[in-house]
Amino acid sequence: MDYAAGSDQVFRKVTTLRLLEMKKAGIKISCLTAYDALIARILDESGIDLILVGDSLGNVVQGKETTLPVTIEETIYHTKAVLQGAKRPLVVADMPFMSFQVSPEEAFRNAGKIMKETGCSALKLEGGKLVVDAIARMTEAGIPAMGHLGLTPQSINRFGTYKARGTTKDEADQILNDAKLLEEAGVFAIVLEKIPSELGKKITESLAIPTIGIGAGPYCDGQILVYTDMLGLTIDFSPRFVRRYARLYDGIKDATIKYTEDVKNKNFPNEQESY
Ligand code: KIV
Repeated sequence: MDYAAGSDQVFRKVTTLRLLEMKKAGIKISCLTAYDALIARILDESGIDLILVGDSLGNVVQGKETTLPVTIEETIYHTKAVLQGAKRPLVVADMPFMSFQVSPEEAFRNAGKIMKETGCSALKLEGGKLVVDAIARMTEAGIPAMGHLGLTPQSINRFGTYKARGTTKDEADQILNDAKLLEEAGVFAIVLEKIPSELGKKITESLAIPTIGIGAGPYCDGQILVYTDMLGLTIDFSPRFVRRYARLYDGIKDATIKYTEDVKNKNFPNEQESY
C-alpha cells in the first residue's frame, strides 16, 4: 500500500477504537515518538498511526541523563507543538514522573490538565498494579489511558539498571498479571519495553487490547521507537532493539561542515542567493 498517497483508508483519523480494530484485523500499528511540530508533520505525512510525546524528551531534547526531571508544563509545551503538526495519528502524551504516583485523584487531575490544555487524545502512565486505580478513574471520566510495562525508565533509581525485564519466571508472571490488571482497569493499549519476545507473545495473545513493543519482539500488535534512534540522530545509544533507517547524525554533520567551509571560503552566498 502507498502510505504517502492519501487514500481515505490510510488517512482516516486514528482513534483508540481504530487501534482495537487494527489488532482484530491483524494490521500492525506503527508508532514513533515526536516532540515538535516539524517532525510530527513528517511522521504524519509518512503514515504513522500513533505519535507518543514521550518523557524521553528529557533525554532527547533536554540532554538529561534520565526522564525524571520532565515536568507537566514541559509535557504540555511539547504536546501542543506536536499537535500543530500531526493531524491523522493518535497523539498520546506521557505523564511525567510524580504526576500520577501520589494518588489516583492527583493522577486524574494532572491527566485532565494535560488533555485539556493540549488537545491530545490519550495519556500514557508507567507501571502495573500501583496505577490501576488512576487508570480506572481516568477511563471512567473519558481520558483514555495507555499502560507501560517491562522496563519502565521512571523507575531507574529503584532498579539501578536499564537491562531487560521479565527474564525470570517470577518477573515474567508479574508483568503478565499487571498487563491483565491494566486491561481490566480500562487501558486501550500497553507499551511493552525490553522483555523477552516469548513474554511479549504471551501477553499479546492474552489481551484483547493492542500491545506496542519496544524491544519486546515481533509478536506485539505494534512497534514504537524513539524517532531520533530510528533516524540515526543518536549515535551513543545502540540497544539491540533499535534499527536505524537513516544516518542523520552523519548527514547533518557533513552538511554543517560543508556550509561552514563555504562561509569561511566566501562561497556562500553567491550572486543568485543575494538581492
Ligand atoms: O518516553 C518514551 O519515549 C517512551 C517510549 C520509549 C515508549 O516511553
